[in-house]
Amino acid sequence: MTEREPATNQPLVEKVWGSIQRDPVPPEDDRGRMRLVMNNLILHIHPTKVAKPALKFNYTFGLGGLLILLMMVMGLTGVLLMFAYTPSPGEAYNSMLVLQTEVWYGQLIRNLHHWSANLMVIVAVLHLLRVLFTGGFTAPRQFNWALGVSLLLLIVAANFTGYLLPWDQLAYWAVTVGTSLLSYVPVLGDPIARLLLGGPEVGAATLTNFYGLHVAVIPLSIFGIMSFHIWRVRKDGLTIPRQPNTPEDQRVERVTTIPHLVSREFVFSLVMLALLITFSALVNAPLEAAANPDHSPNPAKAAWYFMGLQELLLHFHPVFGAIAIPGLGLAALMAFPYLDSDMDVAGVWFRSAKGRWLAGLSAVLGVALTALLVLLDEAVLDLPSLLPFLPTFISNGWVPLAGLLLGVIGYGEVLGAGLKATNCERRLGVFVLLAASFVTLTVIGIFFRGAGMALVLPWGS
Ligand code: HEM
Ligand code: HEM
Repeated sequence: MTEREPATNQPLVEKVWGSIQRDPVPPEDDRGRMRLVMNNLILHIHPTKVAKPALKFNYTFGLGGLLILLMMVMGLTGVLLMFAYTPSPGEAYNSMLVLQTEVWYGQLIRNLHHWSANLMVIVAVLHLLRVLFTGGFTAPRQFNWALGVSLLLLIVAANFTGYLLPWDQLAYWAVTVGTSLLSYVPVLGDPIARLLLGGPEVGAATLTNFYGLHVAVIPLSIFGIMSFHIWRVRKDGLTIPRQPNTPEDQRVERVTTIPHLVSREFVFSLVMLALLITFSALVNAPLEAAANPDHSPNPAKAAWYFMGLQELLLHFHPVFGAIAIPGLGLAALMAFPYLDSDMDVAGVWFRSAKGRWLAGLSAVLGVALTALLVLLDEAVLDLPSLLPFLPTFISNGWVPLAGLLLGVIGYGEVLGAGLKATNCERRLGVFVLLAASFVTLTVIGIFFRGAGMALVLPWGS
């Protein structure tokens, strides 16, 4: 076909060609037409122009783009793994051994899938923090924030269902511990756990269920919501970075997406892929002995991203540690952008200069207070024996929950009335306090819990 593209494409074509100053190739030529197709594809997910300040790497840190790249790696390596993997208790572990020893690059593909999966959780949390700290969730982006929180939950679900598939001791017991948390959900917990497990405990039916969820239901859901999320970013426009106390300026200089943004994305993706492949070539994904339902390891720990919850369970009645507190936390996270929609903070790191140091202070306090409370609870603060006349549901549930809520409200008051923080600085401070506290619980759970879940030093014998 020697004709040019149909007239409806004309304005877009003009814009794209206008933007490419270097080496202009006429669209009639084959190379030109190829480039036209590529550019049209790119401009489906990107606007034609972007604000120049938003291109700064230290604004988004490329985290959203990195999540897209990681999802592509997961899809590609996942499909390759399916050729070697058999989802049955008799075969699964063996197929992992065969994959690692007899399949060309099998170990590397498994490592890539394993490390990218773990990295996805970390990168999604960092992306959430970047968005939260720069007010990237403010109107009209509230709904996109909610889509983001759903993506984070789905990424954790993909990790959790994938965790079981190698069918080694680590997989079997981590999933046993993880699903046992469901039994604390009143009324619905047991039926959901039975449905998920396909029976009373982790077994052959669980492996098939998890496999189906893992290779079809969850990836398709992630793909669908992710596409919607990225489309919304395009529609709402990315927030534009600015200094504290300066008005939002929509008249900033705009540059064409091609080549300014696309070339950056391309280089960043290549660097990240190179790092990921190098790491996966050097460090193998763990594989323990084959699953043995009769022999539980001590300590039996959940996957690392659930260790904060497992740690909470050591201090609260299970209904509170596994359900009420995480549920409240999640609801607050979802509702965060809707709490105060008229904040004028989009694009300002930590809301203001004061917000920055309040966030720092809250992070330090969150870590210190949590470590202190864990130590106190371990040594002296045994609420059920201090309040023996109360059922543990109250002494170890309602009482510490009330203490926690009072502490959080009190902290908000100190920030507001005492330190004269504005509403949004105050909310940021409380968020950072709780987030730092959760990270501390996770670190304690991963590194400082030994046999019988007793507190130990990680460097001790
Ligand atoms: C698979 C997971 C995800 C993907 C692929 C993804 C992708 C992206 C991309 C490419 C951007 C624009 C550039 C950037 O900020 O890096 C973005 C922005 C955004 N993301 Fe995500 N994201 C994901 C998860 C999340 C999560 C977990 C949240 C928060 C809970 C979130 C909330 C947002 C919001 C509100 C924006 C707009 C920010 C602004 O305008 O400054 N996303 N996302
Ligand atoms: C967000 C997306 C995904 C995440 C977070 C994820 C995570 C995981 C994890 C953590 C494992 C265990 C890895 C190990 O230690 O060996 C795993 C295994 C597996 N995944 Fe995925 N996965 C994702 C997408 C996919 C997709 C799209 C497919 C296939 C279409 C797939 C197929 C498999 C297979 C066959 C295994 C078993 C082999 C093995 O354990 O290495 N995964 N996945």
